[in-house]
Amino acid sequence: MSYLMVCLGNICRSPLAEGILRDKAEKLNLDITIDSAGTSNYHIGQHPDNRTVLNAKQHGIDISKLKGRQFQVEDFDKFDTIFVMDSSNYSDVISLARNENDKSKVELILNRVYPNSNMAVPDPYFGGEQGFETVFILLEKACDVIAHSIEITN
Ligand code: 4NP
Repeated sequence: MSYLMVCLGNICRSPLAEGILRDKAEKLNLDITIDSAGTSNYHIGQHPDNRTVLNAKQHGIDISKLKGRQFQVEDFDKFDTIFVMDSSNYSDVISLARNENDKSKVELILNRVYPNSNMAVPDPYFGGEQGFETVFILLEKACDVIAHSIEITN
């Protein structure tokens, strides 16, 4: 199975989600593919934001070597599930979908923790340090649910 994490810039939320899910997959011995992308072209080729890298490091996860890329239509073919962080990412990705099958792959990531709530992982980019820890806590919960659901179906 393959999972793509998507946010706006691919330098804060989605690379962190990628790092957290990869960490859990390694610990649970899951054979899955994980990647991340941004809906925008703002940070293509850039490493994650220093504040996200530091926050992840404080939790024992190294995301310093990841590089930003933009979501592409071909990602609908490459990934089974596309997790987005907020409703704006959701509409941006859905607007690129070619058919109902593409659309059915897109999910708000926090709906795995709080079903049907359509809650957002808040964008931490323009805020303070606490925002990054809030994002970590939310994504850790979501990736925990995702990893254990894969473990059960494996
Ligand atoms: P992300 O955060 O979508 O979690 O990577 C952002 C990063 C950069 C910008 C916005 C959000 N930006 O406007 O440059």
